[in-house]
Amino acid sequence: MRTDKASSLYGRRVLVAVSGSIAAVKTPLLVSALVKAGAEVCCLVTPSGAALVSPVALASLSRHRCYLEADQWNPTAPRPLHIELAEWAELTIVAPLSASSLARWSQGSADGLLASVLLATEGPVIAAPAMNTAMWRHPAVQRNWLQIQEFPKVVPLLPTSGLLACDRVGDGRMADPTMIQLAAESVFSRGPDAPVATCDWSGISLLVSAGPTQETIDAARFLSNRSSGRMGVLLAQAARFRGATVQLVHGPLDLPDAWLEGLQCTPVESAAQLSSALQLALPTSDVLVMAAAVADLRREAAFEEKMPKKQLQDVLSSGWTEVPDLLSNLTRQRRPGQLVLGFSALTGDDTHLLEKAESKRLEKGCDLMMVNPVDRDGQGFGDQPNGGWLLGEGWNRNLPVTTKLTLSHQLLDALFKLRDQAAALVDS
Ligand SMILES: Cc1cc2nc3c(=O)[nH]c(=O)nc-3n(C[C@H](O)[C@H](O)[C@H](O)COP(=O)(O)O)c2cc1C
Repeated sequence: MRTDKASSLYGRRVLVAVSGSIAAVKTPLLVSALVKAGAEVCCLVTPSGAALVSPVALASLSRHRCYLEADQWNPTAPRPLHIELAEWAELTIVAPLSASSLARWSQGSADGLLASVLLATEGPVIAAPAMNTAMWRHPAVQRNWLQIQEFPKVVPLLPTSGLLACDRVGDGRMADPTMIQLAAESVFSRGPDAPVATCDWSGISLLVSAGPTQETIDAARFLSNRSSGRMGVLLAQAARFRGATVQLVHGPLDLPDAWLEGLQCTPVESAAQLSSALQLALPTSDVLVMAAAVADLRREAAFEEKMPKKQLQDVLSSGWTEVPDLLSNLTRQRRPGQLVLGFSALTGDDTHLLEKAESKRLEKGCDLMMVNPVDRDGQGFGDQPNGGWLLGEGWNRNLPVTTKLTLSHQLLDALFKLRDQAAALVDS
């Protein structure tokens, strides 16, 4: 079988637990995707889960036997199955998580195989609830949901809104399997020094800009750049997985729609729209990350009709104006304590590039500047890895080329440290 050796899931042991929600029909897709990414996957199904999705399908797709409730009471097993599974798994994913299983977990009940595994596990657990909107909004369910987020290694994936199997339109849809896979990759993309508390960004509000801007030339053409939005969106999701509330202002993206789940999104096209949206959101955020690739020029006036090809050269040789520096404007407007991380795509040799980057950081007034060279093979735009230097006041740190998800966590760690230092200064 072909597997993705570049994925952080490669060679990792993942337990996928399925409880009794109709969303269980989507779990085989998740299992298949995890296996293709190179993870060793094993499934566990509650009795209600087994009534909704076939354990045989899960066994086939995971290339592993699927555990059922009755397996816990096997007289030939030398050790309890729930302990074996909890110790085997480097990551447990509960998808879907039903209201009943959530209730048992939040209350510390070990009633059943899944409930026992959830209490016995010391590793991270991704929780993807799914249920009818009224059930999801019930105060008891909300209380239980908040309760499990207090547990040290839980990655909570809020249900999304849409048409439910009960024909109601509202909250309660299980996170998309693509999103659950991204959360799993994120767990394994954090370094060995990752804090015990998975939700270390809980209570922090992050504002991220991502993707390119487009400046209209005429009815058919625009000026833009190669940015896919991947770096900014992955950073936004990595922060969300760590408990942050994230607002994302983004240009036209070249990414799966599901990657925007759980973010408060404002789509924009031009630099002027990006600037207005960011200024509106800035006062309510604690940290700003400017990963958007803003087009440098805009037309003084765009043409309403499509310009004939023959006139283009003449018409485009004038009538351009420079787009104002959004990052400098925003750093000037920030309130004390708000942190700003800027991105700078540069080219050239290392020394020259670092000199340029440091003067850019000072000129723009941001606390941290991630400098990524975009003229080197195998790094930079799109789904390529990324790396470069992170510059701060009086220091610079080389960040070797890695996946954009790992880089996102390194940047979040640096921001978190800076926040801690700033808080310590205020306290002393
Ligand atoms: C057809 C059907 C669909 C269901 N869908 C859901 C659901 O989406 N979410 C949920 O929490 N419970 C749902 N339930 C109810 C649960 O299956 C029931 O509460 C069960 O006790 C859950 O047990 P478990 O958590 O051990 O799997 C559904 C029940 C049926 C019969």
